Amino acid sequence: MSSQVKIGPRSKNIPALELRRVSYSLDGKQILDSVSWTVREGEHWAILGPNGAGKTTLLKIACGYLWPNSGGAVYRRGEALINLPELRKSIGWVTSTLASQIPPRETALRTVVSGKFAQIGLWESPAKRDYALARKYLAQMGCSRLIRREFGTLSQGEQQRVLIARARMTEPYLILLDEPCAGMDPGARENFLASLRQLGRRKKVPALIYVTHHVEEILPMFKKTLVLKQGKVLASGATSAMLKPRVFEKLYGVPLSIVSKNGRHWPVVA
Ligand SMILES: Nc1ncnc2c1ncn2[C@@H]1O[C@H](COP(=O)(O)OP(=O)(O)OP(=O)(O)O)[C@@H](O)[C@H]1O
Ligand SMILES: [Mg+2]
Repeated sequence: MSSQVKIGPRSKNIPALELRRVSYSLDGKQILDSVSWTVREGEHWAILGPNGAGKTTLLKIACGYLWPNSGGAVYRRGEALINLPELRKSIGWVTSTLASQIPPRETALRTVVSGKFAQIGLWESPAKRDYALARKYLAQMGCSRLIRREFGTLSQGEQQRVLIARARMTEPYLILLDEPCAGMDPGARENFLASLRQLGRRKKVPALIYVTHHVEEILPMFKKTLVLKQGKVLASGATSAMLKPRVFEKLYGVPLSIVSKNGRHWPVVA
């Protein structure tokens, strides 16, 4: 795959990410089957789907870590071909797996600064302004008091907030969050979601893609939802239209009703 095409300029009409009939298979098993999905600049999406539905595979394809190997095409800001090092900087990843790869003795501040180089650990010499930017992004995630703490001593919720600040160092146009609240207790989760909500209120914010099994984590800022089942798009569109008992029953195979409060939705056994 050639890698010489530059990532295009920001435009309202050109989607940040567009998947056209993307299929991916492994050892003869179809993992993604003709998935079409368009994410506009600054548009926040939730992704729902049972275990093994292909959510993480889809994110890996979105960020160029995997290629559609059985059909389809991916366009990022209108470009089909990519420069991989550029792409690493223009799409941020936040997962609990990433948290486990961060050197535990590194301070929160240095962890964030290392995001500038899209690498794990700080091997290059950052400029003063990189530290200033890191402090700003940490402050925006409510983490100013953590800057000197070693990453390994932070709680899971704090680690995920630091990783979002880190992902912003390259000013990406897309940030992928793969089950960022996995393993958090309800309090840590709400604190994390409050920081995410603050981030979503900012004017210049990357498009956020939020994969979760927990419907109640889908904040009102996630106005669109993609629903995947067995590698296929089961439904996609306005979150208000996706979070319906008939969609959940098809998705999880059990009758569920939805309790809604303050723009959030809780599934309960019907
Ligand atoms: N490297 C791999 N080798 C073999 N199978 C794989 C590999 N990666 C993914 N798969 C399979 O592809 C399917 C989709 O996996 P994926 O991780 O994308 O699902 P997911 O929707 O993220 O699931 P979960 O909710 O459990 O995280 C699963 O059946 C998984 O076993
Ligand atoms: Mg997954």
